[in-house]
Amino acid sequence: MSEPSLKIGLAGFGNVGAGVYKNIEKNRHLLRERTGCELEISKIAVRDPAKSREFALPEGLVTTNLEDLVNDPDISIVVELIGGTDRAFDLVKAALESGKAVVTGNKALLAERGQELFAIAEANGRPIHYEAAVAGGIPIIKAVQESLIGNHIQSVVGIINGTCNYILTRMTEAGLTYEAALAEAQSLGYAESDPTLDINGWDAAHKAIILASLSYGRWVPCDRVHVEGIESIKAEDIAFAAELGYTIKLLGVIQLHEDSGSIEVRVQPSLIPAEHILSSVKGVFNAIMVRGDIVGNTLFYGSGAGQDPTSSSVIADIADAAMWTQPTRGAGLATHHLYGETLPIEESVSKYYLRVEAEDRPGVLARIATVLGEFEIGILSVIQPEDHDEKYAAIVLMLHYAPYGIIREALERIGQLDCVRNRPVLLRVEDVK
Ligand code: HSE
Repeated sequence: MSEPSLKIGLAGFGNVGAGVYKNIEKNRHLLRERTGCELEISKIAVRDPAKSREFALPEGLVTTNLEDLVNDPDISIVVELIGGTDRAFDLVKAALESGKAVVTGNKALLAERGQELFAIAEANGRPIHYEAAVAGGIPIIKAVQESLIGNHIQSVVGIINGTCNYILTRMTEAGLTYEAALAEAQSLGYAESDPTLDINGWDAAHKAIILASLSYGRWVPCDRVHVEGIESIKAEDIAFAAELGYTIKLLGVIQLHEDSGSIEVRVQPSLIPAEHILSSVKGVFNAIMVRGDIVGNTLFYGSGAGQDPTSSSVIADIADAAMWTQPTRGAGLATHHLYGETLPIEESVSKYYLRVEAEDRPGVLARIATVLGEFEIGILSVIQPEDHDEKYAAIVLMLHYAPYGIIREALERIGQLDCVRNRPVLLRVEDVK
């Protein structure tokens, strides 16, 4: 049985728009299995089709008129990735009023005009999905909206601007001046050519406003948010902070004051203890710590920008909208057969740490090495501490990649050697990616 096709109108084909198109194609099969729908981008609206692009516009789908997306009765989801707050507002409003679900990654639009747009969405019984609007590829919106739904959110503290985090990291680790770090961020393509909203804190503020509004169910007006950027941070502040045991980060902070019920929302460069987990968030990465009254602290970490991470969030929203529009798959676990069986542990390959307690006499190490050699297990390094008891010594071997089944057989044999006492200790060296 073929899956129902779900037509999507994509507005904007910049970095993220192209990523959405590319990655829906890449994972088409998986998305079909998981959503129960064939996701089809059937129209793409761009301002200038002739503009040179890294990823060519797909032929036959292009229009220069945003209304073509709204007026197409076959399109049930409109994805707004054009940016700005005027044309984008008109598009989202018209799409909702035409009975379409909307997906947007536009943080400024939601922070400034979200209250109006969500009222229109409610009046028309159509959803707005906006995972990509906050922290790129990190699934923070769905986490707060769904996974933490049973919690009063007590606070949200986040590093939510990658450009500023990159600049501050380079100032901290390489001793660069603010100007040099910014120039580096621009040359690497992290900062926009006009990075004003990044460095003056407003990109982070838009995200904080969305998170605060989501967490507390009321729109936080932009003019009630205190916003400072990182322009005035000097290398000497970074150095003094380090001397005092702190790291400087641009933080978005949302704090519930339980006594008064008021909500504090601010973005400021702030000192945090060097040993705090947020201090280890470096470069362009983002991280958000959400504290709930039931769950306690949770931490979300990942790429806050970039074509693939951000398109991952947009695609998740499209999938949500698709399942909402045609609930062919219930929430939960969609079964399919795209992957193989669960790997038996015997076939799982890694490097290992092996500690053997063996008699301290000539030839012992050679006997252990011989057993490993017979099983074709390579030795990466060996340590034998000099201080040990008179008769037995610990020998620590780091072993090369081998299947666990083979290692286990070798270990059995090593354990049977008369020069070995106690069971050897084997630990896996995990390749954490
Ligand atoms: N320019 C932002 C950042 C990404 O540097 O994190 C998009 O909001």
